[in-house]
Amino acid sequence: MFVYISMHPNLRFPIFITSFATLVTVYYLTKPICEIDDLEELYTHKDCMCTSNKTGKSYNFCYPDPNKPGTYGVKFNCSFVETVEDLKLIGDADNLISLSDSIQNEDDVVFVSAASEDHLEHAMKSHASIREYYPYNKYVLFGLNISSKGMDLLPTDPNFEFRHFNATPYPEYVTNWKRYHFKGLVMAEAMRDFPIIWWIDAHSVMVDSDVVGRTFKEVSDYRLSNGYSPMFSFINAGHTNYAVMHLELLHYFPTESFDLLKSDYQVGTTLLFVPRTKYSRKIVKWWTLCSLTDECINPPGAQLQCTFDRNHFNWWAGCYRYDQSVFNILVLNDYQNYRKFYMGNMEKSFRRLY
Ligand SMILES: *[C@@H]1O[C@H](CO)[C@@H](O)[C@H](O)[C@H]1NC(C)=O
Ligand SMILES: *[C@@H]1O[C@H](CO)[C@@H](O)[C@H](O)[C@H]1NC(C)=O
Ligand SMILES: *[C@@H]1O[C@H](CO)[C@@H](O)[C@H](O)[C@H]1NC(C)=O
Repeated sequence: MFVYISMHPNLRFPIFITSFATLVTVYYLTKPICEIDDLEELYTHKDCMCTSNKTGKSYNFCYPDPNKPGTYGVKFNCSFVETVEDLKLIGDADNLISLSDSIQNEDDVVFVSAASEDHLEHAMKSHASIREYYPYNKYVLFGLNISSKGMDLLPTDPNFEFRHFNATPYPEYVTNWKRYHFKGLVMAEAMRDFPIIWWIDAHSVMVDSDVVGRTFKEVSDYRLSNGYSPMFSFINAGHTNYAVMHLELLHYFPTESFDLLKSDYQVGTTLLFVPRTKYSRKIVKWWTLCSLTDECINPPGAQLQCTFDRNHFNWWAGCYRYDQSVFNILVLNDYQNYRKFYMGNMEKSFRRLY
């Protein structure tokens, strides 16, 4: 602040502007994290609102950049408002819990997965691996177009529930399973029905004991305060967000810091802890709107196959991670540090089947 006293007067104005901008930025970055939940109510714009024909209520359908109030993403189509309302991601909520509520009882954790016919055998191995350690927790598998032949593979387990994923309320392109529209939608349906979800991809198996207990302990020891995300991943993707970025995603979910996209790891959506908190509901709302919008979850030219020519950080590898890219941009924007939504200690307790 005192630096410019000795400067030429003409130089003072731009420097003042810069310091002011820095102060504003510092203010927004150091705001208490609880306000993240309320951001879209604080910052919205009348052109961003969508009104439900069913309830007459209006909701914000443009994602507000949490680090730059007044900046919004492209508006999602208002034709989805009733769908999102039916999923209970918007409107009154009387069934939300806190992160602390979610770690009271290991038996309340519901394992949730989804599989198409070609992943069903993996899903059954994944289910069996969970049963080694958790014989009685509820396990729900969402089937993506599973045939009656596939149904024969399902276990006879009283705590196992099979649900055919019903895509009829959604646009037809969500049945393009390899583009992962389904994942945010299944997450939303599961969150509507169960307060504490442990998501596990069909190709992931549990290989160690007391994973839930150890997770609960780590949450209770370190994560109930200090600005940790209640919704978190157990997997480090091993590359940054930048390496697998598609610019179209940033039209829907603008972000302030390319440096952060290049320096912070992306986390995997293979394994996620999802308690039905106010924050998780907000994340799943935007994730769902993106999943309902082909240009957002599956933008033109997007492909899974990467070419990591130079490095996994500030070199674009020509690929995209669909649901994983979406989840990461949302939580990174809020927390600005991947460690706040990543729990590394449990990583060795799981193995990939391929
Ligand atoms: C919104 O969705 C409706 C119904 O599917 C469609 O007719 C309309 O073209 C969409 N609007 C935009 C801007 O994409
Ligand atoms: C809601 O009502 C308006 C006006 O009647 C109509 O144009 C619009 O298509 C309706 N939206 C849906 C999703 O039904
Ligand atoms: C569902 O599976 C049947 C074959 O079992 C196939 O003909 C159909 O195209 C599949 N539909 C989708 C949406 O994947």
